[in-house]
Amino acid sequence: MGYCLPDEDCPQPLLDVFARSKTALTLASTQREDIPLVLVNEPFCNLSGYEPDEVLGRNCRFLQPEGGAGPVRERIRDFLADDAREDGRFVIPNQTRTGEAFLNVCYMAKIRHRTQAEYVLGSQFAVRTGGERAEAYETALRRDLTTLSDIFSESDWMLMGSMDAIANTSALLARHSLKD
Ligand SMILES: Cc1cc2nc3c(=O)[nH]c(=O)nc-3n(C[C@H](O)[C@H](O)[C@H](O)COP(=O)(O)O)c2cc1C
Repeated sequence: MGYCLPDEDCPQPLLDVFARSKTALTLASTQREDIPLVLVNEPFCNLSGYEPDEVLGRNCRFLQPEGGAGPVRERIRDFLADDAREDGRFVIPNQTRTGEAFLNVCYMAKIRHRTQAEYVLGSQFAVRTGGERAEAYETALRRDLTTLSDIFSESDWMLMGSMDAIANTSALLARHSLKD
């Protein structure tokens, strides 16, 4: 299932991909104040523990613990503000609605309508177990993004980015734990 903010006119391909996807997906609008979530799917609600109406219309930072998520926040802000950057991946300390901490490997790609990035697509992966799940996730997300890209190619919408950032979740996590 996909859950959309009632007054948001999301393109149909996005609604379809969100409804069918097995991975957690979020869509935020850059056309609204503070880039709030306008579309989320069932896997995202399962991952975060929130109901759709508790998250739609809010900026996704509500997943970050009260003490803050550290310097990664600034890197996300820079990514969002820089028109030249199309997609990226961020490792963010997050917590579920009930306060369970998890490391979120969050992929973001901008979605352009004609000349302007109107949405940002986000996909969340909660690191709790080993590499096998990470590989299944990468495959599923790549499939979703390819579907979306193909359908968009017939329209004036465009999914930005190369998807290169999705690969090697396990290696990324290894690097991350070394840094910590
Ligand atoms: C589509 C999208 C999905 C996002 N998903 C998450 C997320 O799952 N967890 C998180 O901590 N931040 C997420 N963010 C990032 C925050 O919404 C916010 O951009 C970040 O905290 C930096 O801005 P701030 O310093 O104003 O909070 C997402 C942003 C976008 C645009």
